[in-house]
Parts: sequence; C-alpha cells; structure tokens
Amino acid sequence: MLAIEEISKTFGGVRALSEVSLSCGAGEILGLIGPNGAGKSTLVNVISGVVTPDKGAITLAGGDIGAMATEGRARAGVARTFQNIKLFKDLTVRQNVEVAHITCVSARRDVAATIDIDTLLERYGLAALADLAAGTLAYGAQRRLELVRALALGPVLLLLDEPAAGLNELESEALAEAIEDIRATVGCAVIVIDHDLGFINRLCDRLCVMDQGRVIADGGTEDVWSNPKVIEVYVGTSTAHSAH
Ligand SMILES: Nc1ncnc2c1ncn2[C@@H]1O[C@H](COP(=O)(O)OP(=O)(O)OP(=O)(O)O)[C@@H](O)[C@H]1O
Ligand SMILES: [Mg+2]
Repeated sequence: MLAIEEISKTFGGVRALSEVSLSCGAGEILGLIGPNGAGKSTLVNVISGVVTPDKGAITLAGGDIGAMATEGRARAGVARTFQNIKLFKDLTVRQNVEVAHITCVSARRDVAATIDIDTLLERYGLAALADLAAGTLAYGAQRRLELVRALALGPVLLLLDEPAAGLNELESEALAEAIEDIRATVGCAVIVIDHDLGFINRLCDRLCVMDQGRVIADGGTEDVWSNPKVIEVYVGTSTAHSAH
C-alpha cells in the first residue's frame, strides 16, 4: 500500500530524517514511536506532502505520490490528523466534515458515495454537536472531529500524529476501539504516532522505532521490545546494563 524509500530531510543543520525506508499495508496498524525530536512528525509531514524531502521516493498503491501537492495526496486518500489540532474553528462540526467529503467526491466519487456524514457524526458521538462551531468544542470532541474529518476523505492511508495526547484513560481506550473499528470497516493502512506506549502496544500490529532521524527497529511488538537498540533508547544504556 504505502512504500517510502530512503527519505532524507535536513532543516538548517538538523538532520530530521536520514535514509528512512518504511512500508505499511492495507488493514495494518503501524505504530511509529521514538523519543522527542526523533523525526516522527517530519516523516508523517513528508508522507502527507506538508514537508518536501531532500531525497527519497513515496508510492501509494503502486503510484508515485512524491511530486504531488498536499491536495493531490488528500484526493488520493492520504488523510491525517495533526499533533496540534488543526480544525476550521469558525466552521461548524458538520461543515468541517463536509469540506473533506467534497474533496473525496471530486476525486473518487464511488468511494465518497459509501460515506454518510450523519452516520459518521453519530458513530463518533458528534451528532448532537453538529451545528456548533468546531472551535467551541471540548478538547476530546475536537480530537474526535479531526478523526471523523479524516474518515470523510475516504482514507486509503490514515496518519494519526499523537491522537491520544491529552486524552484521559477512558477517552484513549475509546479512541483505540475507534481505530480498530476503522481498520475493520474502512480497511485502510493506519500509521499512528504516540508517546503513550500502553495505547500503542494495545493497538498496533507492528512497531517502527525512530531515533535521531533513523529507523532503529521495525517489526512485531514483542520483537521490537526485546531489541537491545530499542531498550537502549527507552531505558538508557547504563540502566539496561545494571538490570542484567
Ligand atoms: N519546520 C522545522 N524547522 C526546523 N526544524 C524542524 C522543523 N520541523 C522539525 N524540525 C526538527 O527536526 C527534528 C525532528 O522533529 P519532529 O517534529 O519530526 O520530531 P518528533 O519525533 O515528531 O518529536 P515529538 O515526539 O516531540 O513530536 C527536531 O530536531 C526538530 O526540531
Ligand atoms: Mg511529533
């Protein structure tokens, strides 16, 4: 589904991404983790077209999307949420979702026809809030709206940058269920970034661990958590040694 090959990106003197290669299949939930500044958001920004890489290739369902602008990628089904919520705050909840749906209609009318906005609002607890300005919603509801807006795009690939940040335990459990439900019903590829490792371990089939712009581990959850490089990054060398 998604294949990225040898992506590099430097901001001034900072090497945010260094020869990063990664793939994600349809129906797969991939957790992208790593310490602050590892390059996770930059990678998601490169995939969605917000940041232009210095080198590397990106293909979605076999098609090269590397040269497309953000809008083109959205029409192709690359949907995302942001680390810092980016809604149209003055538009209503419903209008926020409609804007995404219109984008889908313009590019993939057949997919758009399968998406019912009222059903989505109902399913994610936003029906009663549909006519309120998005900016007036409580934080948890704004996060849900971002997700619903991404779903209205008919995602082929769904990118979630720290969706559980700032949610309480109950809310993040509900979010994990919602993402599992999306995998089952939409069948898209999902890449989810989060620092809440309980949330990530519960949700993901596969983990990709980044550190200082590089992928240091990629595989099943158990394999990744027993990888010495990952232990070193998460626990620290001296602590890891003293534990033996
Ligand atoms: N637009 C930018 N301009 C300059 N430097 C940037 C820019 N975006 C990211 N960086 C730098 O690139 C590196 C990777 O940042 P990125 O935001 O991708 O990390 P992250 O893994 O998402 O971290 P966090 O977990 O804190 O969100 C950091 O050193 C960051 O300061
Ligand atoms: Mg980030």
